[in-house]
Amino acid sequence: MNTIQMVDLKRQYQNIQTEIDAAIKEVMDSAAFINGPVVKEFTDKLAAYTKAKHVIPCANGTDALQIALMALDLQPGDEVITPSFTFIATVEVVALLGLTPVFVDVDPDTFTVNIESVQQAITPKTKVIIPVHLYGQCSNMEPIMELAQANNIAVIEDNAQSIGGHYVGLDGMHKTGTMGTISSISFFPSKNLGAYGDGGVIMTNSDELASKMLKICNHGSEKRYYHEIVGVNSRLDSIQAAVLKVKLKYLDQYCDKRRAVAAFYNRVLGNHPHLRTPFEPAYSHHVYHQYTLILEGIDRDAVHEALAKRGVPTMIYYPVPCHQQEMFKNLQDRSYDLPHTEYLVSKVLSLPIHTELTEEEMTFITTQLLEVIDEVKQKYYI
Ligand SMILES: Cc1ncc(COP(=O)(O)O)c(C=O)c1O
Repeated sequence: MNTIQMVDLKRQYQNIQTEIDAAIKEVMDSAAFINGPVVKEFTDKLAAYTKAKHVIPCANGTDALQIALMALDLQPGDEVITPSFTFIATVEVVALLGLTPVFVDVDPDTFTVNIESVQQAITPKTKVIIPVHLYGQCSNMEPIMELAQANNIAVIEDNAQSIGGHYVGLDGMHKTGTMGTISSISFFPSKNLGAYGDGGVIMTNSDELASKMLKICNHGSEKRYYHEIVGVNSRLDSIQAAVLKVKLKYLDQYCDKRRAVAAFYNRVLGNHPHLRTPFEPAYSHHVYHQYTLILEGIDRDAVHEALAKRGVPTMIYYPVPCHQQEMFKNLQDRSYDLPHTEYLVSKVLSLPIHTELTEEEMTFITTQLLEVIDEVKQKYYI
């Protein structure tokens, strides 16, 4: 059996190596490393896949969020509502731009933003809500968009982890990242659609925002050496676009495989007294960027460590909520009561999940987990 990894990018590459190598070679032969034709070919294909009107390439998912915020004409001190239970990139860019992050709680079953919590956090200064489609699960977008529209607030979907997923609303199915004012995607290698380096895109259906974000990505310029607004240098390079163009063809297949792994884990681990398996609300087609359990009535950290000793890596996404991060200590005078977030950071554990996992490996992982839970229980109760 292979060594178990959280994500096995090597095996995935080996399975599509001929196509990937040919696509990279084409870029090498053309020497069009920046803004080569393959960048547009990829973004056009992604637009067709998601049905987003505009797909703007950029350097990574963090830049995508920053550029989206920069396009919204915000003023220092404007408030941006985000869940605290997310990767730091979601909120770091808010602080970087002199905006004020306002942290809200998540639903403990879906791990995505709690609607009441958002509603209560809205003030006249609120200009943006950033719902995060965490672990592959789409946030409940309809009530979020209703709240946003009623209060004239923009919505940036942080879709770094959930490309390939969709939302089922009253008016049908929408791919994640196509419902908000703007959305961001990360192509970090381990993501559901991963590059072989950094990469990202920003999506919107607004012509005006699209042309502004395109400019921001390119030093605030449309015409070479004429700079209308302050921008950044954020590009998706041609080699990454070539890799992503090949892998986009496999995205649905990859998501199906992730769902099959999740179904296996659910079958074996469901109904265990100490494990809560992931919940899929009817509105969300979950694509399992992570398979995250909640460990109840047992020492999560002890299970995590014991599994590592048995060759099963697991991860804690995320051990510290954003509102308690050192970087936000000057914001900590705002008193936060986010019980679900604070509960989850001490209880969640993500199991290995990737597109190449075999049944033998999944059986090994679940067998080890069940044995470790018994072992940890005995250690504490005897
Ligand atoms: C929720 C979330 N937002 C934003 C990002 C940032 O993406 P990147 O690493 O491409 O900058 C990530 C990446 O890990 C993420 O998980």
